[in-house]
Amino acid sequence: MDKYVIVGNPIAQSKSPFIHTLFARETEQKMTYETLKGSLGSFKEEISVFFTNGGRGCNITVPFKEDAYAIATVLTERACLAGAVNTLKKLDDGGILGDNTDGVGLVHDLLSKHVRLNGAKILLVGAGGAARGVVYPLLKHNPQQLVIANRRVNKAETLASLFADHSMDNISASSFDDLSELKFDVVINSTSASLSNQYPNIPASVFDKDTVVYDMVYGSGMTSSNQWAIEMGASRVIDGLGMLVGQAAESFTIWRKIRPKTSQVLRALRLKLAEQT
Ligand code: ATR
Repeated sequence: MDKYVIVGNPIAQSKSPFIHTLFARETEQKMTYETLKGSLGSFKEEISVFFTNGGRGCNITVPFKEDAYAIATVLTERACLAGAVNTLKKLDDGGILGDNTDGVGLVHDLLSKHVRLNGAKILLVGAGGAARGVVYPLLKHNPQQLVIANRRVNKAETLASLFADHSMDNISASSFDDLSELKFDVVINSTSASLSNQYPNIPASVFDKDTVVYDMVYGSGMTSSNQWAIEMGASRVIDGLGMLVGQAAESFTIWRKIRPKTSQVLRALRLKLAEQT
């Protein structure tokens, strides 16, 4: 059996074993996928032991995505631009490939839900690691505008400047206040606000009747940020569960060279979340 793990700390809450076990069943792959609680300070050694003992690949989550970036011997372009790695794969020559599938997971989920990115005015709220991972995959879909807004505007400016070379002048940074004259087709919330039942305090005027809002956070019910966006006039809200399944599908394809279907897994996961409450 080929061995895969997700490494993080904490890790018990991870949905990835559930998702990948369903993918493996559907695509008839002989593999195991488990959680591995990484130790702060010895991540590199633990990954090395895993691969020496026959491990084939791993997903990496908080707080080890930058450490994984540092230990990969080959990086994809999107991982380089994200500055973080969520997928490692043992290569035939003994090297370790580092990739980042978070951004394509988001993009696949949006496109599968018929949200137009090409030519769209997109607002990305937040400027942490979660935002950085999705900028390049979004830019590849040629939005008319990608505005990054953050509570602390200097972080948004730094993030936008990292991608200026990869954009046709369609990326910019903004404070929350300076958004008040603008409207967007798509608002993507990469902040952790919903995790503490809050919402990013952007001007409600950014939403109009056609605005689609995407919160990267997910839960059993509607996230607090999405709830607020609906109250402020957004037409449609989506949570981040589809992004989770989308990034997993992309990692699985990198490892197994076969693309799993995602819709049934997403439904099963939604049910599982509802049962847990
Ligand atoms: P991650 O890797 O998940 O992006 P992070 O690097 O800690 O985590 O970044 C968290 C992001 O959420 C930041 O953009 C943060 O804004 P600041 O840089 O101004 O702190 C944002 N954030 C968290 N809680 C927020 C809230 N209640 N309102 C607005 N932004 C919030």
